[in-house]
Amino acid sequence: MALCERPTFFVYAKIKPMPAKIAVLPGDGIGPEVVEQAVRVLSACCPDLSYETALIGGAAYDATGSPLPLDTLALCKSSDAVLLGAVGGPKWDKIEPITLRPEVGGLLPLRKELGLFANVRPAKTFAPLASSSPVKNASSMDLVVMRELTGGIYFGQPRERRDGGSVAVDTCVYSVSEIKRIAKQAFAIAEKRRKKVCSVDKANVLETSRLWRETVIAIAKDYPSVELSHMLVDNCAMQLVRDPGQFDVILTENMFGDILSDEASMITGSLGMLPSASLSEGSFGLYEPIHGSAPDIAGQNKANPLATILSVAMMLRYSLNLGVLADMVEHAVSRTLESGLRTADIWSEGTELVGTKEMGDAVVRNLG
Ligand code: IPM
Ligand code: MG
Repeated sequence: MALCERPTFFVYAKIKPMPAKIAVLPGDGIGPEVVEQAVRVLSACCPDLSYETALIGGAAYDATGSPLPLDTLALCKSSDAVLLGAVGGPKWDKIEPITLRPEVGGLLPLRKELGLFANVRPAKTFAPLASSSPVKNASSMDLVVMRELTGGIYFGQPRERRDGGSVAVDTCVYSVSEIKRIAKQAFAIAEKRRKKVCSVDKANVLETSRLWRETVIAIAKDYPSVELSHMLVDNCAMQLVRDPGQFDVILTENMFGDILSDEASMITGSLGMLPSASLSEGSFGLYEPIHGSAPDIAGQNKANPLATILSVAMMLRYSLNLGVLADMVEHAVSRTLESGLRTADIWSEGTELVGTKEMGDAVVRNLG
């Protein structure tokens, strides 16, 4: 049986399964370099996939006047999964209106249009990197931040300036159905891990958080094997630094998840190591490193491609149903680190400094 067969429902469908199509959106800054290495790794372990590349972010704005061209959106909708590098950079930071900027006009509407409500951000300390963490007991950390991605203050209306610009308004809105669907994903992931969900909110102040907590408690009844706890977001920020090993799955809303996932990533030792998956109801997903476009080192073969390579592992697991290959990619990354190779962001005395491409070469070599 070919290693790269599609999920069983295709196999049983008595039609020749089409190779899965991956939309590749390199984006800005270091995006193209890290995506190039991730695609090499993906094609090395799964030669049957087909790829189509499209513009997003500042690169798309420069070429077409829109940070999310309709062609790009159409390509993503017709694909089985999307691989994204990063968007944004100082060149586009002053564009007005803000809806033409790479983040607000590119990435956010892409998430919304594709229905990617569940953002899965694993933060696990790789043993060879534990000493670069600023936190003492970082080696105990192995958690997943499950961040709601298409609601909350990022998308609530109204969002405007009033009184001639002297007053600004953002609105935080959550509905029971939005909270339910993300809570279900968090419990489902926890069932396969250490069976603990910590729901993080600000229920001592915010009405949306009170609805969040009530809804999560109701959903928890369907997952009796999972232990549910609640934590206020300020306490969670502190607890992550004090004892990161206490968390298994952190379930939280859009903006809290944005902040806590950056904090968790730094505890692992490097922002350059962490992958993410943004999932919709079915198997479709968008995969991207959680780091940004790092324009200061773009085009210099300095960026760490491992977060994007690990994002490809998540794609194999969640969208392509090829968990064995996902494990293979993750092991190849571990072996590469164990062999002492480091890009500049994770380099320390006694390890070997390599560039983006050489790191990609090593992972491909270690796949076997
Ligand atoms: C992230 C990023 C984005 C977010 C920005 C670039 C809009 O910080 O994916 O975490 O806030 O969601
Ligand atoms: Mg962020």
